[in-house]
Amino acid sequence: MTSAPQDPGAAGDGPAARPPLPEVVPADGLPARVRIHEVGPRDGLQNEQTVVPVEVKAEFVRRLAAAGLSTVEATSFVHPRWVPQLADAAELFATLTADPELRGVDLPVLVPNDRGLDRALELGARHVAVFASATESFARANLNRTVEESLAMFAPVASRAAAAGARIRGYVSMCFGDPWEGAVPVAQVVRVCRALRDMGCAEISLGDTIGVATPGQVEALLTALGTAGVAPEELAVHFHDTYGQALSNTLTALRHGVTTVDASAGGLGGCPYARSATGNLATEDLLWMLRGLGIETGVDLDRLAATSGWMATRLGRPSPSRTVRALSVPSHKES
Ligand code: HMG
Ligand code: MG
Repeated sequence: MTSAPQDPGAAGDGPAARPPLPEVVPADGLPARVRIHEVGPRDGLQNEQTVVPVEVKAEFVRRLAAAGLSTVEATSFVHPRWVPQLADAAELFATLTADPELRGVDLPVLVPNDRGLDRALELGARHVAVFASATESFARANLNRTVEESLAMFAPVASRAAAAGARIRGYVSMCFGDPWEGAVPVAQVVRVCRALRDMGCAEISLGDTIGVATPGQVEALLTALGTAGVAPEELAVHFHDTYGQALSNTLTALRHGVTTVDASAGGLGGCPYARSATGNLATEDLLWMLRGLGIETGVDLDRLAATSGWMATRLGRPSPSRTVRALSVPSHKES
């Protein structure tokens, strides 16, 4: 018996009846698999005007993990006066680590200093991230320190985290442009990346905090880092999408051998200390591209988009992700 052809535009079609798009057409020079470092609960929610209740945050993390995201950056152990949106870090993190559904899910947290690390380790954190800046202006605005002073603040955090058996990631912000200083010399970024790597960061995430980068810049920075001995396997990319360049920048990085990409469900995100920072690359937009290229991620796009739709309702505004919005209509073939 042959089944009747599906009418994707028929009344009552839910997302399940949607034809399997995008068509898969692989391209040369790309990895077979990409690891997504989901930052929605941290980078996304740190910038929300609405304070999201802790139980909603916990449910958000659970749904992200259930969609197949195995690394979900959960929160920040920063000063609550600096980021009131994440003042519930301890309560949230304790809830998450006690949840059997989240066993095996990597839940990194941001820690700027010893105090932050103490708070994270007390609650059993196994993966922490320090966050440096390539520019003096942002180091001052975000950390109340010069670049050198902030690196000096991170060094004991990195060695103590290693001694406690925790993995450590290092972010570098303002890698491609700074709202106060304009263009950022590549050598400045390379120097901070090397300093973080030398203090023991297992992975360095290159941040385009204000979303101004274009692919030529990405290529130039990755080439310079390679020359300085920092391999693509040690790197992740973290693009905010202010000017709609995040996907093309990501593709450029993938062609250079980077296989870890930071993204935020629904395109939430921003930094309260860089006014021009808007949302991160939306995880769904990234997944659409990777799926079309036949690149494995282990993430269920429909389930993730449903999670972002759910979160958008909680935040009271539509998701900025193009893919989330497109998937919320019944069919791609509707005219
Ligand atoms: P400070 O005011 O210089 O702090 O802030 P301090 O070291 O002088 O200490 C002052 C008081 O704060 C002391 O308490 C400390 O104990 C307390 P007192 O003795 O006065 O009672 N304190 C803390 N309390 C709780 N948790 C802590 C902590 N540290 C000190 N961890 C500090 C320095 C680093 C704390 C502050 O600047 C800060 O919290 N900054 C965080 C800013 C932030 O979270 N920004 C957003 C994340 S970065 C980002 O989004 C970019 C990224 O996504 C990549 C990209 O896009 O580029 C990662
Ligand atoms: Mg960010």
